Amino acid sequence: MAKGSSKIVLIGNGAVGSTFAYTVLLKGLANELVIIDVNQNKAEGDVLDLNHGLLLASPMKITAGCFADCANADIIVVTAGAAQKEGETRLALMNRNVKIFESIIRQVVQYNTDGILLIATNPVDILTQVALKLSEWPKQRVFGSGTLLDSSRFRYLVAEKFGVDPRSVHGMIIGEHGDSEVALWSSLYIAGVGVNQRQPGSPWHLTDEQKNEIYNETRMAAYKIIEKKGATYYAIALALARICEAILKDQKSILPVSSYLENYHGIDGVCLGVPSIVGRNGVEQVIPMALTIEEEQNLQQSATTLKKFLHEIGF
Ligand code: LAC
Repeated sequence: MAKGSSKIVLIGNGAVGSTFAYTVLLKGLANELVIIDVNQNKAEGDVLDLNHGLLLASPMKITAGCFADCANADIIVVTAGAAQKEGETRLALMNRNVKIFESIIRQVVQYNTDGILLIATNPVDILTQVALKLSEWPKQRVFGSGTLLDSSRFRYLVAEKFGVDPRSVHGMIIGEHGDSEVALWSSLYIAGVGVNQRQPGSPWHLTDEQKNEIYNETRMAAYKIIEKKGATYYAIALALARICEAILKDQKSILPVSSYLENYHGIDGVCLGVPSIVGRNGVEQVIPMALTIEEEQNLQQSATTLKKFLHEIGF
């Protein structure tokens, strides 16, 4: 890519992918966006629709393409894959999406050797690891959206409880993007003070019951939305756009993306969402945290759960 320019290739133009494309346009995130989908008509239709808004957003080049367009891409965002159907097990979804990834990643690396692969397809931690192995790219350049969306939901819910701006709530969900994710109550801060340090009865204190409620609502958010409208896409699209922004603008933002962990709080050989410095080189550093024993054990449990699934698919 020429200096100063930026190219994003989106693979998968379903609900998440097309919402991401619209978010890229609204934010003027890149100079060029290429949309690839097995349903070429849908990709071409969306490209027309998006281009018709260029005058009203910011100038950029948006096209429907094929895998050869991955050449020179700064970021390849993968949202392609089957979505969970009613009554379908997670494992069944995983197996189908691993097959899809085998085809996609093989074609991406045929045309690109130095881009960044950003994975959003679920189960995202497992598919990030699959993409890492299939691409044979360095772990800094293959990562997933991780628990950024969960952290956004968490901060929103805490913010709602206290009637403040979510940006003024500092906290994180780490681990699996899914059922075993971990809420870090010990490092939830508002106005410089840990919520755990607030005395019971103080306006900034959370009872165990309130914490459980917030955690469960965070963890179950996707199920609730899927039950109501079939899919989630706005918030995940914003999360993906935020990660792309950190990469393209070399912001060194600390975001809980999912990357391959080695010697991290006793965890080895698995992709999980943990705070990481994200910049032009991808995941530039994974940051160890101050965890309570319980939080560390829960994170390790999250890793064990994912490893079991990875073992089942031979990764
Ligand atoms: C969600 C999907 C993206 O959590 O996994 O909304």
